[in-house]
Amino acid sequence: MEIHRYEKLWTVAALLLIVGLIATVTYGAVGPGVTMVDDSGGTVDAQSLGDTEFSDPGVTQVDNNEYEVHVVARQFLFQPGTAEPIRVPANSEVTFYITAADVVHGFELAGTNVNTMAIPGQVAEVTVRFDEPAQYGIVCHEYCGAGHHTMAGQLVVVP
Ligand code: CUA
Repeated sequence: MEIHRYEKLWTVAALLLIVGLIATVTYGAVGPGVTMVDDSGGTVDAQSLGDTEFSDPGVTQVDNNEYEVHVVARQFLFQPGTAEPIRVPANSEVTFYITAADVVHGFELAGTNVNTMAIPGQVAEVTVRFDEPAQYGIVCHEYCGAGHHTMAGQLVVVP
């Protein structure tokens, strides 16, 4: 039996599409890129954050130009960030550890590539460099209840 030339071509094209699709999905799953659900910082007991490293959330200096910031997201504020801005110095490397106390929230530093979910029981870890003094808005981008649209904060990179 003879296969028509165009049929052959289309079969090859279809196979290439399938391989391409699998490659894309695989890359999305294991490759670098945006992490949607992030528990790279480990887990934590959301019911008793007071007994964890999140008992007194805030900025900690860990080296010359290195800082850690523990952030708790809860309905409907960031702690710290909402009542008072998170303050870190310019020319610093800052690692955020973010978790949620009640429901799923988002933590986006508008204008940077810091963008993660904040999930009860999980700790999202994100490291970013701040070279220049600046101000960034912190936005919750996961619907978390009636006050979701008011849930925001601020980060100030001080000179
Ligand atoms: Cu928190 Cu939306």
